Amino acid sequence: MSVITSVKGRLVFNSRGSKSVEIDVITDNQFIGRASSPSGASVGSHEVVSFAKNDPELSLKLFNSYSRKFIGLDAKDPKTIFDVLRSIDTTETYEKIGGAVAYSLSIAAIEAASKSENLPMFRLLNPNGPYQFPFPLGNVLGGGAHAGPGTPDIQEILVCPLGANSIFNALEMNFKIHGEVKKAIERVDKKFTYGRGDEGAWAPSLNNDQALTLVADAIDKAGLRLGKDIALGIDFAASSLWDKTGKTYNYRRQGISRTAEEQIQFVLELIKKYDLVYVEDPLHEDDFEGIAKVTKTAECIVAGDDMLVTSAKRLEIAAASGACNGAILKVNQAGSLYEALNFSRECKARRMSIITSHRSGESIDPHISHIAIATSSKMIKTGILGGERIAKLNELVRLSEYGLIEGLAELSNT
Ligand code: PGA
Ligand code: ZN
Repeated sequence: MSVITSVKGRLVFNSRGSKSVEIDVITDNQFIGRASSPSGASVGSHEVVSFAKNDPELSLKLFNSYSRKFIGLDAKDPKTIFDVLRSIDTTETYEKIGGAVAYSLSIAAIEAASKSENLPMFRLLNPNGPYQFPFPLGNVLGGGAHAGPGTPDIQEILVCPLGANSIFNALEMNFKIHGEVKKAIERVDKKFTYGRGDEGAWAPSLNNDQALTLVADAIDKAGLRLGKDIALGIDFAASSLWDKTGKTYNYRRQGISRTAEEQIQFVLELIKKYDLVYVEDPLHEDDFEGIAKVTKTAECIVAGDDMLVTSAKRLEIAAASGACNGAILKVNQAGSLYEALNFSRECKARRMSIITSHRSGESIDPHISHIAIATSSKMIKTGILGGERIAKLNELVRLSEYGLIEGLAELSNT
């Protein structure tokens, strides 16, 4: 039994100090599940809205007024929760009640159900496996919407510990590189204040080219081989660079503008130069054709975040145009857990690699680590440092104790 016997919402704060809705779900009068919704800084314009009329208080009030509808539902079935949510809010982007309610309620319910059923969440979500650990992508240096002036225009330079032999070792390697990057920045900037962006990545005063060279050098200094022990990835978050009117990608901090064609060439050059295993949002969110060109030429994962917004509909458009061979899965972009799991099924049917991801404004909840394993994600993005990031990574470490999860995912068959 996993019958929802009570629900309770409250306002709390996320890692940026912004308001969020947290929901407690109790099953069988005794098992509590709790979740609060994260939020993004580089938000896709097609993703679900967080709050009704942009107002967390209003979303909470609305949730309270409908909360009785959720009593008696089976918490282990995300579809029943989705059905009731959709009977309340039929707007595509949860404008009426807010995606934060859909997220928090559906995740809290599955946590409560996992306690009722005495099964870890990943097994409840995917009873049959097989289970593998995703590669943790560590965000070691960044800028864009996650850090202030003077930092790179590129949002995230990511490391992927290809040579790791366990999830613990993978995390160790990522932290080692993060430490080496700090030392490398100190060497070039005596006044470096150890500033970090929203996800814990170093946020130095460097341009894009300097930043990439520096990270590659730091990997070398650590005695690791670029592209073999540690590979690099980049989240361009190109919608933040795109100027709709001028039709150029403006790297404002570096003082460079690129046309769409130049941007494609730039991305392909970087993939080649740094042997990248991963690029995310290399073109703006509606340029399916441009991303298709990158996908066709690149021998790496080309993932859509703002482009796909964890939406099965957007995935269909991308697939029809040959755009992306990887998809970011952020539950709060989709709304509820059911919608996100549906998206993951669509990804698998289309042989798209899944990359489960946090948001830059996070809670200390560890749920996405289970979601990554349940959806056979190839990679997981959780930033690098800060309690809200470490919470997810340490959950992966704990999950290795089940003995059910084989090693790290294969990236070669993507
Ligand atoms: P966001 O950024 O959470 O600020 O949207 C993360 C990302 O773009 O991957
Ligand atoms: Zn992104």
